[in-house]
Amino acid sequence: MLKEDFVWGVATSAYQIEGAAKEDGKGESIWDVFCKEKGKIYEGQDGEVTCDHYHHYKEDVAIMKQLGIKAYRFSLSWSRILPDGIGHVNQAGIDFYDHLIDELLANGIEPYLTMFHWDLPNELHKKGGWLNPDCVKWFGEYAKVVAEHFSDRVKNFITLNEPECFIGIGYVEGSNAPGYKAGLKDTLLMAHNALKAHGQAVIELRKYAKQKIYVGYAPTCGMASPETNSKEDIEAARRYLFSIPKEGMWTWNVSWFNDPVFLGTYPEEGLQQFHDYLPTITKEDMELIHQPLDFMGQNIYNGVTIRAGRNGEPEYVERKRGYDRTQVGWPVTPECMYWGTKFLYERYKMPMFITENGIAVHDMIAMDGRVHDPDRITFLNRYLVEVKRAVESGVDIRGYFVWTLLDNFEWDKGYSARFGLVYVDFESQKRIVKDSGFWYQKVIESNGGSLKKARNEILHLKPIFKENIWGGKRLKDEFGYEIPSETTGECWAVCAHEHGSSLIREGTYQGMTLSELYTTHRELFGNLKGEQFPLLVKIIDANHNLSIQVHPDDEYARIHENGSLGKMECWYILDCPKDATIIIGHHAKTREELKEMIENKQWKELIREIPIHKGDMIQINPGTVHAIKEGTLLLETQENSDITYRLYDYDRLQNGKPRELHLKQSMDVIQIPHRDYVNEKVESYFGSNVEELIDCKSYMVWRFLVKGEQEHKMNLPFMIMSVIEGNGFINGQLIHKGDHFILPHDYKSFHLSGAMTIIASAVKQ
Ligand code: BGC
Repeated sequence: MLKEDFVWGVATSAYQIEGAAKEDGKGESIWDVFCKEKGKIYEGQDGEVTCDHYHHYKEDVAIMKQLGIKAYRFSLSWSRILPDGIGHVNQAGIDFYDHLIDELLANGIEPYLTMFHWDLPNELHKKGGWLNPDCVKWFGEYAKVVAEHFSDRVKNFITLNEPECFIGIGYVEGSNAPGYKAGLKDTLLMAHNALKAHGQAVIELRKYAKQKIYVGYAPTCGMASPETNSKEDIEAARRYLFSIPKEGMWTWNVSWFNDPVFLGTYPEEGLQQFHDYLPTITKEDMELIHQPLDFMGQNIYNGVTIRAGRNGEPEYVERKRGYDRTQVGWPVTPECMYWGTKFLYERYKMPMFITENGIAVHDMIAMDGRVHDPDRITFLNRYLVEVKRAVESGVDIRGYFVWTLLDNFEWDKGYSARFGLVYVDFESQKRIVKDSGFWYQKVIESNGGSLKKARNEILHLKPIFKENIWGGKRLKDEFGYEIPSETTGECWAVCAHEHGSSLIREGTYQGMTLSELYTTHRELFGNLKGEQFPLLVKIIDANHNLSIQVHPDDEYARIHENGSLGKMECWYILDCPKDATIIIGHHAKTREELKEMIENKQWKELIREIPIHKGDMIQINPGTVHAIKEGTLLLETQENSDITYRLYDYDRLQNGKPRELHLKQSMDVIQIPHRDYVNEKVESYFGSNVEELIDCKSYMVWRFLVKGEQEHKMNLPFMIMSVIEGNGFINGQLIHKGDHFILPHDYKSFHLSGAMTIIASAVKQ
């Protein structure tokens, strides 16, 4: 459970959304300059106007308010406030942020102010930028201005956003502003200066703050998750996460940018690896960098999977072929949220905020004028479930910010990657809240309660088989099942019983038994109460007559059968010979008469037989004498119990002996006189094109006759389906005769097509 005051937010950054790049005295930033360089940005685009948030901020705050967003993480444009980075303060810039902050507060939205999100004032860049040791002073001066003007209303401050990126992509790799490809020596110095600047800003913010403020920092990196839950794999993933990269962009690592800030030291591995390139690092430097902070921000997007290889060394696990990817090609790895935050929390022991997480999707305005973005919903849901899991396992995560509120200028990708909860038409500046925006509104309203834990996955089952003296081989002939012998009487298709449990055939839970799944993932079954999975579905092949039986009700079974459930069941006749009959009920009028007839073996007079035909449904309430006769193939749906009392077995012998009878119990429970079950309900749960065959105390059973297409809605704890004839599709998945599966809870709608007959059942609540 997330705490009541969990902070649900969205994040943005100045250059990406503000526009007004040349207005009201704003100075140039390195991004204004970089975007002008040919071939640097997708289709030569820039952030001069972008979402024009500078003029639309009231509308944007109103959208946030409507969506119930509690906190807004935005960044200041340093050169809007200090056009030259230092010195002259631009009042119009201060005014803009004053108005924004006031508007947020008036709408009950908590501002989280980031000082620097990559847009270094160009004047400072000309002076050497992060390479110049004076940048520590510059950033400190800027922090003082920020604290003096905004800390009367803003309580939460973040110094730097992602030094791994602005140094790595900006100066090592060079695809972001200012587009340099500097060497290790220079970039290590820049990183060191930037970390010192962070420390200086923390000091200045606190010094000039007008109230108690909370200061943090927002680094990022790829996270690492173990391949399995083994101790070795977990340890390998942890080691990998905090290791220094041996190849690729050196800044892409966690410990070089976190250890100094939160622990006061650079990681030993890095000190050794970079030894020949390091700047002078003094004790004073480390003290400056290691300022006490109130929280750790982390921007988390994805991660890798690691296993313990030879000698326990971390080994990269190749991604699965066809792995989920976002529009910009980033892998979708929700588990990194759990493992990443867990590893970070264990090492740094800081309260955490997920300061960014989100996805770029190919969003378009649909024919109905709305923006449907199910992929974003899926992504955010899956990641947020892992945030919750981390919190539940003890990680102190206090808030989460979706990247991002508005589609915006995505750096070198220009406007080609949409990350927003709100669609922006960059020509007209029209905003349209995407489905994910409304989805997030519900998540916030329910404090995460509306998140779906598991994907709505159809649970396909693998049946188990039972051999019986009366069994045959039609389970193979008719359904193609691999049966153990030619006396196989029962296919336990959907079962989670101590005498056998079906296996999950495929998907996330592949290989688990239905019993295990029911115990560990009760949410899939609508969080039903009770220890046992409530229903059992079998196919019975009666090659010979079955003994004549009767079942107890719940009450009798509880007292006499060790707390077991009684048994209510029903039979759907799949096939039977012409003129076939079945035994249902008896002719005794009183208990004395019953006793007498049993004692005198007057079976012919006692037992009631009725004719049956393919497609008949027969309900057998507890206390009903019943037996299946030779040649009948049927689908049985019953309460999950294996308790049955044998009344008469046609005097047959098994292994030379008669099978055990349970006369006393039978006589206790037999209903006198017999009454047939009548389904009185007229209206089917699924409406007119689905027949409701049974609606009794324990279950409902339906027959879906599919010819063409059917769309259904359901709001049941779960539903069992067995295809008994033909084939077709359920939600695009091919299903054939003999398939059994469960639609779990939250499977709110399903689509059937093809030519088939399905018998479905659900537990009665
Ligand atoms: C940055 C954002 C960027 C987002 C998506 C984050 O690393 O902080 O500015 O838009 O990633 O690429």
